[in-house]
Amino acid sequence: MIPKLNIVPFVSVDHMMKLVLAVGVERFLIELAESIETDFRRWELFDKTPRVASHSREGVIELMPTSDGEVYGFKYVNGHPKNTREGRQTVTAFGVLADVGTGYPVLLTEMTILTALRTAATSAVAAKYLAPKNARTMAIIGNGAQAEFQAMAFKALLGIDKLRLYDIDRTASTKCVRNLAGHGFDMTICSTIEEAMEGAEIVTTVTADKQNATILTDNMVGSGLHINAVGGDCPGKTELHADILKRSDIFVEYPPQTRIEGEIQQLAPDHPVMELWRVIAGQETGRANERQITLFDSVGFAIEDFSALRYVKRQIEQTGLYEELDLLADPDDPRDLFGMLLRAAVAAPTAA
Ligand SMILES: NC(=O)c1ccc[n+]([C@@H]2O[C@H](COP(=O)([O-])OP(=O)(O)OC[C@H]3O[C@@H](n4cnc5c(N)ncnc54)[C@H](O)[C@@H]3O)[C@@H](O)[C@H]2O)c1
Repeated sequence: MIPKLNIVPFVSVDHMMKLVLAVGVERFLIELAESIETDFRRWELFDKTPRVASHSREGVIELMPTSDGEVYGFKYVNGHPKNTREGRQTVTAFGVLADVGTGYPVLLTEMTILTALRTAATSAVAAKYLAPKNARTMAIIGNGAQAEFQAMAFKALLGIDKLRLYDIDRTASTKCVRNLAGHGFDMTICSTIEEAMEGAEIVTTVTADKQNATILTDNMVGSGLHINAVGGDCPGKTELHADILKRSDIFVEYPPQTRIEGEIQQLAPDHPVMELWRVIAGQETGRANERQITLFDSVGFAIEDFSALRYVKRQIEQTGLYEELDLLADPDDPRDLFGMLLRAAVAAPTAA
């Protein structure tokens, strides 16, 4: 069948939820992680730029574009930590894939849920190479919207089955326990960060605060720990004390973006960091010994969203879980755009 040129597949939040549940959360995370690893192995051929950020007093709105030469993708995403107090999400997103040959969009999708999944999948991929072998216990500091996704990805990819939860708002932790019940976790809600860190081989920091916070201090971090630092992702918004960074081997997505947005904004601009894709591609070593402190300074990079968009496109082709969106004007004569507009007046008379 010849596709209708004006129609773009659109994945609503409702369809995304149905898709994730139809595939299964763990399988979705595993396949998404494979998709991300595949693209990280061909990192060099992508267009890369730090995301374009528009900062305001309350938050940030960002555009994240990339292309592999055949397909172009971008994500619109915001970060507004005060939003939850008004019943809104801290992070929302949507994204587009387009055909480089024609410039025509080929997918428009919600990405609020997809961002949580891709962030968690990327964290778990990094941990596969960086966390201590046979780690079972993870502390999660910050138990908001992203937290369960992180837990599920670490279970699916690494076999993490003990969670130590801490949030300044205990109701966030009880929500996590409720949502993750029946998924095979042994969960403990902790009263302090120090308590949450007891016995943890991995710590995920995923708090939201529009300032330089000190979620982890140097004395909390023992040798051999893997730190998955997710919440510090904007200028002036970090989670770790700088002394921790100086003791850690630091792995990042795209250094020009991470130096602006990540934990390493606290360090000198030439402080050595390792690009995660090089480890995945087998060019560099991830964790080298049991005593090393490894840090994945996650900020979220456009290639991860591109991988997620392509994965979703494949999935909706198989499941039909999308709507047809009349997004692109398509006159019979491509140059007669105005004529098409006039003919629409005949079809739909103007209101009196
Ligand atoms: N790196 C990435 O790719 C990526 C992707 C998505 C989101 N993020 C970031 O992750 C963070 C969390 O996102 P979310 O959607 O879960 O936000 P959220 O607002 O839903 O949850 C944040 C949680 O952190 C808790 N918190 C705040 N300060 C704390 C502190 N000092 N100690 C312990 N807990 C604290 C809050 O009570 C809340 O429960 C945000 O900063 C967001 O920008 C990063």
